[in-house]
Amino acid sequence: MNPAANLILVGPMGAGKSCIGRRLAERYGLRALDLDREIERRAGADIPTIFAHEGEAGFRARERAALAEALAQDGLVLATGGGVVLDAGNRARLRAGGFVVHLQVDVERQLRRLAHDRSRPLLARGDREQVLRELAATRAPLYAEVADLGFDTGDGSAAEAAARLARLL
Ligand code: S3P
Repeated sequence: MNPAANLILVGPMGAGKSCIGRRLAERYGLRALDLDREIERRAGADIPTIFAHEGEAGFRARERAALAEALAQDGLVLATGGGVVLDAGNRARLRAGGFVVHLQVDVERQLRRLAHDRSRPLLARGDREQVLRELAATRAPLYAEVADLGFDTGDGSAAEAAARLARLL
């Protein structure tokens, strides 16, 4: 990896993008940026509130704008939201914006990690396991399309996964 470029983490909810991203940023002396938190900061509202008032379409418009602005910079470790790859323009931006790692996690681990989560509106749309399996099926090829590297986050801590990932970069 060219350390001057951005390191971009994509992958499903509960893969550990934010936690692993913070640790990699420390390790490389880069700036950690979490796209979801950036969207919330710019909106002055949390993600459930944005979904409630503007729908998913409104959230996706905010996500596109925040991604474009983030990737106008470099020297970032950017943790993205799980749905960022749905938009073709976003996918082109991600590919051009840095080295992209697809953090992989299976549905069983997602269910464990997100068991008490109330901050992700898509999980409230139905049976959680079914929602996660459907999202995985539609999005797996999109993550693969943008990724330079696929990385299985495994069952360990975020620190362990970050250390293991750093050895591959
Ligand atoms: C979403 C994932 C979330 C957040 C929003 C939508 C998705 O981010 O952007 O709730 O479409 O998968 P995380 O992947 O950080 O949970």
